[in-house]
Amino acid sequence: MNENIVIRHYNPEDLAKLKEITVDSFGGVTLEQMIEQKLGAWNEQTWKQRKAAHIDEDCAANPAGVFVAERGGEILGYITTRIDEANARGRIPNLAVVGAARGLGLGRRLIQHALDYFRRSGMKVAQIETMAANAIGQHLYPSCGFEEVARQVHYAMKL
Ligand SMILES: CC(C)(COP(=O)(O)OP(=O)(O)OC[C@H]1O[C@@H](n2cnc3c(N)ncnc32)[C@H](O)[C@@H]1OP(=O)(O)O)[C@@H](O)C(=O)NCCC(=O)NCCS
Repeated sequence: MNENIVIRHYNPEDLAKLKEITVDSFGGVTLEQMIEQKLGAWNEQTWKQRKAAHIDEDCAANPAGVFVAERGGEILGYITTRIDEANARGRIPNLAVVGAARGLGLGRRLIQHALDYFRRSGMKVAQIETMAANAIGQHLYPSCGFEEVARQVHYAMKL
């Protein structure tokens, strides 16, 4: 069944589904939710709305570098990328696979697809980051060839 999954270019009709997958997938692994859990709400926006807005930004910034995994017309996951031409560096801001399709190697395929796109685009370095709470990311990214470089601590306060 894995062979029936294709990875294709994003098109704007996919956006609503990518945002739906995002808000369903990122609970427990996104800074947006962690800030809200720590500080409580501070305006009318929820962490899900803020996180979904990241996908709007990604798709607007580099639509040609967003890829979608699909089986029989059903979107199962996606990856977004940015290209930094000046520094020959590609970045993967967001990646998600629907719960029912995890563990099939789709996350790995999407990452490999993004890395191939970076190479074709002349990038010399690829970057991705994950929260310390994200055990899957910390297993998957090194196994795709990424090396851990640094850990960052996030702070926030209510004003
Ligand atoms: C991260 C994510 C995209 C991976 O998708 P996926 O299709 O399940 O990924 P794959 O099947 O290619 O690989 C998952 C790997 O993690 C491993 N894994 C699964 N659960 C794990 C856990 N709790 N701890 C460590 N590794 C785990 C799997 O064994 C597999 O590794 P393997 O190929 O060496 O066996 C998916 O889990 C997801 O959408 N998570 C929520 C959103 C998210 O965290 N996005 C990334 C933000 S940085």
